[in-house]
Amino acid sequence: MKFGKEIVLLSLFAFAALVAAGFGVDEPFRQHMWVLFFAVAGFTAILLRNTEFKPAVPIDPAAYMDGPIRYGAIATVFWGVVGMLVGVVIALQLAYPDLNVEPWFNFGRLRPLHTSGVVFAFGGNALLCTSLYVVQRTCRARLFGGDLAWFVFWGYQLFIVMAATGYLLGITESREYAEPEWYVDLWLTIVWVAYLLLFLGTILKRKEPHIYVANWFYLSFIVTIAMLHVINNLSMPVSLLGAKSYSAFSGVQDALTQWWYGHNAVGFFLTAGFLGMMYYFVPKQANRPVYSYRLSIIHFWALIFLYIWAGPHHLHYTALPDWAQTLGMVFSIMLWMPSWGGMINGLMTLSGAWDKLRTDPIIRMMVMAVAFYGMSTFEGPMMAIKTVNSLSHYTDWTIGHVHSGALGWVGMISFGAIYYMVPKLWNRERLYSMRLVTWHFWLATLGIVVYAAVMWVSGIMQGLMWREYDEQSFLVYSFAETVAAMHPYYIMRAIGGAMYLSGALIMAWNIAMTILGYQREEDPMPRSIPALRSVRSGASKWA
Ligand code: HEM
Ligand code: HEM
Repeated sequence: MKFGKEIVLLSLFAFAALVAAGFGVDEPFRQHMWVLFFAVAGFTAILLRNTEFKPAVPIDPAAYMDGPIRYGAIATVFWGVVGMLVGVVIALQLAYPDLNVEPWFNFGRLRPLHTSGVVFAFGGNALLCTSLYVVQRTCRARLFGGDLAWFVFWGYQLFIVMAATGYLLGITESREYAEPEWYVDLWLTIVWVAYLLLFLGTILKRKEPHIYVANWFYLSFIVTIAMLHVINNLSMPVSLLGAKSYSAFSGVQDALTQWWYGHNAVGFFLTAGFLGMMYYFVPKQANRPVYSYRLSIIHFWALIFLYIWAGPHHLHYTALPDWAQTLGMVFSIMLWMPSWGGMINGLMTLSGAWDKLRTDPIIRMMVMAVAFYGMSTFEGPMMAIKTVNSLSHYTDWTIGHVHSGALGWVGMISFGAIYYMVPKLWNRERLYSMRLVTWHFWLATLGIVVYAAVMWVSGIMQGLMWREYDEQSFLVYSFAETVAAMHPYYIMRAIGGAMYLSGALIMAWNIAMTILGYQREEDPMPRSIPALRSVRSGASKWA
């Protein structure tokens, strides 16, 4: 029977959720267990409707397993749009506080919904589906473990739903980027270990002797995130049937563990994994080999060695010992070098193919991503210098830095990879429309420029207003005055974000039409090229 085992296991899971919903010791936990019950029961019902009593069709062991990757590509686009929409909502809430809807949709609950939505749901699904796509093709091997990839995909979606609904219900550990409570963390640990087995197992059964560098980056991301997640979330639940738990750490140790996690989530989730994407998809789309394979290996080892020490730059001028702060600062500055080595490697992969920037909007997107990677990894080390941080910390400058990395690097490289993969995954000749990719590119690029530039201005202004003293050493501005001064910038940020979101909506339309098999009638891109060539060769129409 198709899905027989799965249906039995899921029914038991749904029953356990129902029991927990009945006996939970606190109200948010009981509500959360109802959510879990409905999610799992709904999924079981879908499987029941699709079950068959025929013998299973034999699977070709040499064929790639692309089903979970197809779902992953759709999930990436879907969660991307949701996460960015919440981003625009919280941007508007900061500009117009009346938009806070108590209690479920206030800023405090929607902010982690945004950060987890874009980082873990959008970025996580992009990493999941591209890593499984790349590892199969570069190892020439089908995914390891039979249906393990399906478990990882659906298990991860369940994690996203539980994390997101938990925030709205007010359930949080209050650790930035690690807000879900203990039981959701445990579930993610199981899914993540399965992901590690799936990825490693595929590498072990490879038919290609060499392990391509993109796989090293993906593997470092999977292994390090496992380690960070387990250690940062060590906690003691108050009750096995309650939401609340207490961290195993306290005081400054707690802060350091949190920022060791937080910074390496940036380093390994938002950077190493996406570098894996860059090392596969940029050469593929440009149809050129990586500029320097040797540099990619140096890039890899230098990056993973240096990143892990830089976390204390989030804790400058705190109770953390001074030497630890200086250590974090020095390692952050050193990080500039491998980061730019990687950026140069990505950009130079286009040597000899720069004309593609004019003709291929997907390459343009990828190049813009790498350029933003370079920019944010220059800005980051600068902000890690203690004197600079004394101005930038707590201000919107940090938010500008985050979004130049997140929108520019993470977003753009993921869009490029999705545009590359989707026609291949659904056996389509090309995307529905390349013109729409150009629209997406410009809306996203202009949106980022507006967002980041506005945040730099407001951040530096905010920092300078906070430290402005008069001749009698009184503060010149009250805090409320500095908040009021931010208002126009917050409106402009929301406009920049809305532009970025509209680009993502265009992508969703383009991808949906491609999947459905449509192709838009379009002139080849760009129209000017034949005319240009004929003028250059002296064969203009007047000759
Ligand atoms: C439509 C686009 C987006 C808009 C309008 C937007 C808006 C916002 C806003 C208003 C905040 C809160 C800032 C504050 O508390 O002062 C924020 C935080 C954040 N956003 Fe976005 N965002 C967008 C896209 C993204 C994307 C694509 C990512 C990641 C891939 C991202 C990652 C983050 C992170 C990590 C934070 C927390 C920053 C910190 O605590 O320093 N955002 N965003
Ligand atoms: C060499 C690379 C980088 C270094 C040294 C670096 C350094 C820094 C520094 C010093 C801060 C401010 C800490 C504070 O004052 O609280 C920061 C914040 C942040 N950076 Fe970077 N950065 C780098 C690259 C990136 C990239 C590529 C991304 C995103 C893709 C990114 C995402 C973030 C986020 C999300 C935060 C906000 C953390 C928070 O307070 O919630 N960084 N970074």
